[in-house]
Amino acid sequence: AKILVLHGPNLNLLGTREPEIYGRDTLADIDARLAARAAEAGHALESFQSNAEHALVERVHRAREEGVALILINPGAFTHTSIALRDALAAVAIPFVEVHLSNVHAREPFRRHSYLSDLAVGVICGFGGDSYALALEAALRRLARSAN
Ligand code: DQA
Repeated sequence: AKILVLHGPNLNLLGTREPEIYGRDTLADIDARLAARAAEAGHALESFQSNAEHALVERVHRAREEGVALILINPGAFTHTSIALRDALAAVAIPFVEVHLSNVHAREPFRRHSYLSDLAVGVICGFGGDSYALALEAALRRLARSAN
């Protein structure tokens, strides 16, 4: 199956961005590990990062045309602001896992609210780069179940 990984604003700076919060892995490190793990499980995984809300919305729209089976998304700050991204994910009806490197519940109060979580299959936060790896494992299990 096709798995799409979406990264929102400022995640291109991973590795140098507030490393005490977000860790030292770069986005390229994370994406390479995800692609390798997905390939090992027999799936195709593509990653896309943008700082622009419209680009993420349009990538979600394209995912439906491409037959993407599952999305992993770290929406960055759009988590807390974007009704447009929420509506796009609802419109394409592709199951998605919401991912955050940091524990958004242990930070500023404005990070506790997500416009996406109630639509997500599940949410993983607080494990740094491992949040993505754990989200992918959950996604792989779900895909394996739906293949039977
Ligand atoms: C983040 C948490 C968000 O609150 C923040 O705006 C980010 C990254 C995370 O991965 O921990 O950009 O999504």
